[in-house]
Amino acid sequence: MPKVCFIEKNGSEVIVEVPVGFSILDAARQNNIKLDGPCGGNLVCGLCNIIVGEKFYDKLPAPSEDEEDMLDLVPNCCKTSRLSCQIKMTDALDGIKIKL
Ligand code: FES
Repeated sequence: MPKVCFIEKNGSEVIVEVPVGFSILDAARQNNIKLDGPCGGNLVCGLCNIIVGEKFYDKLPAPSEDEEDMLDLVPNCCKTSRLSCQIKMTDALDGIKIKL
């Protein structure tokens, strides 16, 4: 099963296995990692934003127009920010680093 490395705000890393097809937000929730996402992936809250490690950013499908619009509203958004509810795990993402 592919793995995700979550980097928490205090710098500690948590590595978890994530089934293919699960979102990064689902993975965080299943592993008790603090990541908000009150709209449940409906692209209306933007609170599930994360920073993707540069090595993997280009392996992700491009964000949809709706995701880009929501990211525009996220404070402190950076060039590798994404919404975790919109990223589905694949084998190609094995080892992805996600900064919370
Ligand atoms: S959970 Fe609300 S935008 Fe991702």
